[in-house]
Amino acid sequence: MKKEGKADSGQVRAEYARHVVPSYKRPATAPVLVRGKGARVWDAEGREYLDFGSGIAVNCLGHAHPRLAGVMKRQAEELVHVSNLFFHPKQAELAGELVGRTGPGKIFFCNSGAEANEAMVKAARKAGVTQGRYEIITTLNSFHGRTLGMIAASGQERLREGFGPVMPGFVHVPYNDLGAVEKAMGPRTAAVMIEGIQGEGGVIPATPEYLLGLRKLTQEQGIYLLMDSVQCGHYRTGRFQSYEKILEKTGGGNGFVPDAVSMAKSLGGGFPIGAVWLGEKLADVLGPGTHATTYGGTALACAVALEVLKIIDEEDLAKNIDRMGEELKSGLGKLSGRGWVGEVRGFGGMVGVTVKGKSHAEVAETLAKAGLLVVPAGSDVLRFLAPYSVSMEEVREAVKKVESTL
Ligand SMILES: Cc1ncc(COP(=O)(O)O)c(C=O)c1O
Repeated sequence: MKKEGKADSGQVRAEYARHVVPSYKRPATAPVLVRGKGARVWDAEGREYLDFGSGIAVNCLGHAHPRLAGVMKRQAEELVHVSNLFFHPKQAELAGELVGRTGPGKIFFCNSGAEANEAMVKAARKAGVTQGRYEIITTLNSFHGRTLGMIAASGQERLREGFGPVMPGFVHVPYNDLGAVEKAMGPRTAAVMIEGIQGEGGVIPATPEYLLGLRKLTQEQGIYLLMDSVQCGHYRTGRFQSYEKILEKTGGGNGFVPDAVSMAKSLGGGFPIGAVWLGEKLADVLGPGTHATTYGGTALACAVALEVLKIIDEEDLAKNIDRMGEELKSGLGKLSGRGWVGEVRGFGGMVGVTVKGKSHAEVAETLAKAGLLVVPAGSDVLRFLAPYSVSMEEVREAVKKVESTL
């Protein structure tokens, strides 16, 4: 039945099969989504879902936020794109906002998380070139994107299979293991790159000791600490950066400043934009002609990202997602040990639940049928990536939907 009047799901699925490259693990029965509002989306048959996938940690303000729609229309009518051979005020303003929230430094704008990481790694390599330092230490189970560079950087062999020869210059060590990083460091090491919380790897937060230890170790060696904040950054944990959240209770949060931070996903609230903050030591390393992307920091993308930040500030959404995350963890925690629900971990809008005795993909499909969208991660984890504006009622409803599948 074609209730939404916009799409025939059977036909859409058939067209995907015929014309869309089959590179995504999209279940054959996945809903055909046609409309969204806040934390909810509707499929072509008019079925309603609570969206705790948020387009994989992207739609931080939920769907169809009127202010985002408004800024898109206004900016599109004024100026969408000019090349980076010129200036425009929105890029200047957004760069200032991101520097103000991260630390002294500069911003390079791009379009995705993988691109932000590429720029971050290029900056570290360029800075190390005179000393012959080019190697980047990353962690096992990490995910940094799907470009040839970032599949080499990611600590997951399956991403590289069939795409060799693999780009050299990356060393992988176990996560949350400071000794392993120390052992892997050598005269060629340029930087250490980690996620504050491993996302695709299964919502595994760095420990405070690991973060502080890495900062000390990299400073002692005169090399760089690069944070991939593509998924866990931009207030997803209730703080602008996941490391601020993780270090909140140690008192070390404010003194901890990495050398670079990559951003994407929630930065544009659904509109594609990526960025990398380069701290003072790296800020001027990428000189004229060394790095570029045509669409980096368009007027439209920057206007949207600025509005996202304004809304988060004005509606106090960082505090909201912090509280809602605690509520969700507490609700899911009460189910822990029942049916498939195992350990519950994470913060705010990045909560992971381990799945016991069943495949996590199967459970995600069952939850979708019950009207709750979540995202599988790692080998046995489901991610609950709620929008920052999610309400207490919606969190409780999500927990009830989980309980209904037990
Ligand atoms: C931590 C992390 N880094 C990088 C990426 C790649 O981002 P994108 O898909 O925008 O290239 C992702 C995407 O899931 C991610 O989670």
